[in-house]
Amino acid sequence: MKIRKAVIPAAGLGTRVLPASKSMPKEMLPIVDKPAIQYIVEEAVKSGIEDILIITSRGKTTVEDHFDRAPELEDRLLKAGKIKQYEEMVRISNLANIQYVRQKETKGLGHAVLCAKSFVGDEPFAVLYGDDVIISEQPVCHQLCEAYEQFGKGVVGIKEVPTELVMKYCSLHTKPIMGNLYEVSDMIEKPSREQIISNFAILGRCVLPSSIFTILENTAPGAGGELQLTDAMRTLAITNGMIGVDFVGTRYDMGNKLGILQAIVEVGLKHPEIGEDFREYLKNVSKNL
Ligand code: UTP
Repeated sequence: MKIRKAVIPAAGLGTRVLPASKSMPKEMLPIVDKPAIQYIVEEAVKSGIEDILIITSRGKTTVEDHFDRAPELEDRLLKAGKIKQYEEMVRISNLANIQYVRQKETKGLGHAVLCAKSFVGDEPFAVLYGDDVIISEQPVCHQLCEAYEQFGKGVVGIKEVPTELVMKYCSLHTKPIMGNLYEVSDMIEKPSREQIISNFAILGRCVLPSSIFTILENTAPGAGGELQLTDAMRTLAITNGMIGVDFVGTRYDMGNKLGILQAIVEVGLKHPEIGEDFREYLKNVSKNL
């Protein structure tokens, strides 16, 4: 079954990147000249997604403004003959059919996904975490959708990460199928060192059947007192099995300070407009490191 819908949870408080995220959503932090969430929406669109639901919260209206028309700005750009910029502004507002719903209390990623229940209905859907930008040739969301279409089971984007990160994310029980595909039969959110099953963790993308909503409704709050998506996916993995895709792509965690800097440096180096100048600048800076 073709995946047509995507949910982008972007309602978190972003406490790890304060004070930047105090009055500006971390999902709007720019990587050079484009906010993080635009990379994510573009990835979904390139993956064949037609309808997108962004989960927002208080103080996040700039996300909605970013994907809306901006008549005054467009008019000014047109009058100044800045046609390329004008076209880019219009393109952003036409990227996809984007809807919004507010998560009234930040009760966790699982709770945020549950807010998408009526938007999703009873078809499978993709989830792209609003602060995880993944740069890749083939969009990672597409890599996961293909696996869903092939196996008809929930799919998670996975990577092996250092132990310290496994303890912050989650740990998966995996068995290789072929190539970069794995069976996922169990998982644990934010494990202690003793609880670690493997260094495979879920990073920022999944494709889920609509049955996840009933599971979420019957899942108790977990780590940090929040309703954890991982806890619901664990039930799904144990009962139905899930597929892990060790995806091809570079992921930047825009929810932490180092991740933001890595994204800016690496994307900046490849930027068509300032890439060369930035490279020269970095070479000079690195002489004194
Ligand atoms: P994170 O756990 O990274 O978000 O969730 P957070 O709570 O903002 O982070 P810190 O720990 O306070 O810095 C991953 C994604 O899920 C969204 C976030 O916006 C982020 O894009 N999220 C998280 C929600 O939409 N609602 C929530 O209740 C929690």
